[in-house]
Amino acid sequence: MYPKTRLRRLRKRLFQPLFKENRLQKTDLIAPVFVDETIGAPKPILSMPGQSRIPLGTVAGTAEALWDCEISAMVLFGIPAQKDGQGSQAFAHDGVVQKAVREIKRAVPDMALITDVCACEYTDHGHCGIIGDTAYGPDLLNDPSLDLMAKIAVSHAESGADMVAPSCMLDGMVAVIRNALDGAGHEDLPIMSYSTKYASALYGPFREAADSGYAFGDRSTYQLDPANAREGVRESVLDAEEGADVLMVKPAGFYLDIISSVASIGLPVAAYQVSGEYAMIKAAGEKGWLDERRVVMESLTSIKRAGADLIITYFAKDASGWLDEEQ
Ligand code: PBG
Ligand code: ZN
Repeated sequence: MYPKTRLRRLRKRLFQPLFKENRLQKTDLIAPVFVDETIGAPKPILSMPGQSRIPLGTVAGTAEALWDCEISAMVLFGIPAQKDGQGSQAFAHDGVVQKAVREIKRAVPDMALITDVCACEYTDHGHCGIIGDTAYGPDLLNDPSLDLMAKIAVSHAESGADMVAPSCMLDGMVAVIRNALDGAGHEDLPIMSYSTKYASALYGPFREAADSGYAFGDRSTYQLDPANAREGVRESVLDAEEGADVLMVKPAGFYLDIISSVASIGLPVAAYQVSGEYAMIKAAGEKGWLDERRVVMESLTSIKRAGADLIITYFAKDASGWLDEEQ
């Protein structure tokens, strides 16, 4: 005789749901939204079919539509009218994200608004902070960029954001932002750190989405080498020590082992299913090579199974509808 595992053969409808170890929920999902202050009507993002940059005028409507689908959290990215070497529109009182936050809060006060704190959409060179000469040529300067991140985070907080999400992978960014928020009276505002962010080819479509292509170099001096797992976990440990409230692994689907390790640190973990993951699934779905809906639900369930509490995904709205149909 052999040991029998009858689980898979249990009568399908009656028993299988009882044994589901992980269940995706709408409350797990966070929708990224790109707000562009230079446009008057939504502008499709060609490398991300189904996604658009939206103008300030329709941001409240977008939030309402997500809320109606029971998606209750958004990550906001801004595309400013003006870029410069210092990314100064990123912390302007009337900057695009600051305005978007105020608009959404007026229309949907309970929507959880998370703002991406970075400078790459706001600098004319497209890098995530301040650039200067190094021994290896021009590159991102860690310490001079920290002050910029603190200013961006405080200005997002003043505009009414519920959580700030620094995404630049600078050393010390969480500590500096925590300190600045506390100093400005925002002791209770949480930080979701893009703590474990790999230098990934999967961010390709995001450059079009956020207009943040860089003029020279790459991001490999501040983002992680995909070959490194221990270093990835250590980055999240350090951010936890600096005061991060939520850790993040990015991208998600190729990095499930990292999500699982980071979950053991003890803080809530978010995983970002990035633009390239979206584009791959969409492209194969459009060609009829894969069943888009099934792949999306399998990918999100797998990210959850790996240990993510929150999933930032461009499929948030679609998945919400599909979850309704599964009930
Ligand atoms: C920039 C930022 C990036 C993404 C989120 N914030 C790009 C990068 O780090 O190069 C990528 C998101 C996506 O690809 O969907 N700080
Ligand atoms: Zn950036």
